[in-house]
This record gives sequence, structure tokens and C-alpha cells, in this order.
Amino acid sequence: MAQIIDGKQISSQIRDELKEKVEQYRQEGIRFSLAVIQVGADPASTVYVRNKRNACAYIGIESSAYELPEETTEEELLNLIHTLNDDPNVNGILVQLPVPPQIREHVVVQAIAKEKDVDGFHMANVGALSMGQPGFVSCTPAGIIQLLKRSGISIEGKECVVIGRSNIVGKPMAMLLLRENGTVTVCHSRTKNLRDVTKRADILVAAVGRPKMIDDSYVKEGAVVIDVGIHRMENGKLCGDVDYEKVAPVASAITPVPGGVGPMTVTMLMNNCVEAGLMASKEKRP
Ligand code: GUN
Repeated sequence: MAQIIDGKQISSQIRDELKEKVEQYRQEGIRFSLAVIQVGADPASTVYVRNKRNACAYIGIESSAYELPEETTEEELLNLIHTLNDDPNVNGILVQLPVPPQIREHVVVQAIAKEKDVDGFHMANVGALSMGQPGFVSCTPAGIIQLLKRSGISIEGKECVVIGRSNIVGKPMAMLLLRENGTVTVCHSRTKNLRDVTKRADILVAAVGRPKMIDDSYVKEGAVVIDVGIHRMENGKLCGDVDYEKVAPVASAITPVPGGVGPMTVTMLMNNCVEAGLMASKEKRP
């Protein structure tokens, strides 16, 4: 039976490490802060925003919330972002996605100062990742690397297959696995003979967005399987992109849903907020 990669436990370990770090820096007079902007009242977004603010409170990061009405214009949102960009008391800025249709997501993301882009979505940070330069990395893929490392799973030289090519998960995941010296293949909806490709994987990352699509017919015996999906089934329970019951018996390690990748996303956001605060404090020094 597969090793179950416990994202809750690893996440809480990292949060405690961050909490201690923040406390130490506070004694040196360094403070950390995150501004969270939500436009509209999408219930899922409200839950995510609450989780992020609770994590801030636990670690000792100050957070401020901006709850803007659904009909907010792009210009109004950009004005707020510019104000926060110029505010030295704000280290990190996050606009919860999705935004309503009158607002262009890519315009908003590029408006956030790259030094405050704790989501790692700004082109400058995406470019830095692909060129091996320092910058903020998208939180979910960064969290997956931590899950692997802290579970004693090495990436170097492994066949890594990522299913999904989104800007937030698939593409940065591929870059990070490459940075760790994996041999990386990215599959997507137009990939031919998907099973032939995924069956080669030593490490398989599923970010397809379809409930239980990846069953044992996609997985090589002994593979490590990382499930990025989260879906609510008709019976009210949560499931991932991976059919856990069918895949767990053939995998050597697997992330459950819930309690696998999910908790890591907010944790890595907290990690980025701490980095942002440290960078800002260094800039302020003479
Ligand atoms: N919506 C879904 N995931 C995310 C995320 O990681 N960051 C932001 N800002 N919005 C999201």
C-alpha cells in the first residue's frame, strides 16, 4: 500500500517554522503584512480569503482585507492596487481570483508590484522562475515540491509527468520539477495517447480539473502520485482528479484529497509573505 503524503502535517510543520521565524524577526523590528482584495462575494473565494487571513493571524503576519462590490470597475481596482503598491506598510498584495467579467485578470495581475506579488503570478516572477532567477513562485506548485522533499522523495533524474498546463499550476510545476533536475513532460487536453505518457511517470502530477479521471490505467506500478484537483461529489464528499481507491494500491506514495496538496497552497503563500517582508526590510536599511 502506498505511503500517504500528509499535507496537513507537513503544512502545519512549515507554518510553525514560519511562526518562529516571524517572531524572531519581530524582535529585530521587522514586520510582515499582506493585503487581500476580494471583488464580489463568490462563496468559494470568501472561504479561501478567510483561510488566508487565519493563516496570517496564526503566523504573526498582519493582514488587511479589502472587500469590493461585484460592480467594481477595473479602474477602481487598479487605483487600489497602485495605492497598496506605494504603501511601505504593505509587503504583499493578493487579488483573489476569479474577478468579475468587467475586470481583465491579466491587467490586474500585472499591476501588482512584482516585489509584492506573493501569488507569483506577475510576468516578471514567472520569467524569473523560467530563467532560474530569484522571485516569487506560484504557491500550489511550490507546495508540491515541499511535499515531495519533506516526504523523502527525490526528483533528480526522475521521469516527471504533469497533466495540465495552466499558468497557476501546470506550467510553473514543470519549471520547478526541471529546476530540481527532473525529466519533465507536460500533457494537456490535446495530448495523444495520454496513458502511454503518464505510464512512464515516476512522479505524476494530476491537475486536470476532472473528478477521478486518473485511475490505475494511467499509473505505473510504484509511481508517486500528486493530486491537485478538488471537487465536491454529489454525496457531499470531496474528491480529487485521481481515483484514490484505484490508484493507491499501485502507487508508492500518494496525496489524499482533502489533506494533501490543498493545505500547502496557503502555507506557501505565507512563506512568500515572509520573503516579501524580509526583502522590504533589507531595502529600507541604509
Ligand atoms: N483563486 C484560486 N486559486 C488562487 C490563488 O492561488 N491565488 C489567488 N489570488 N486566487 C486564486
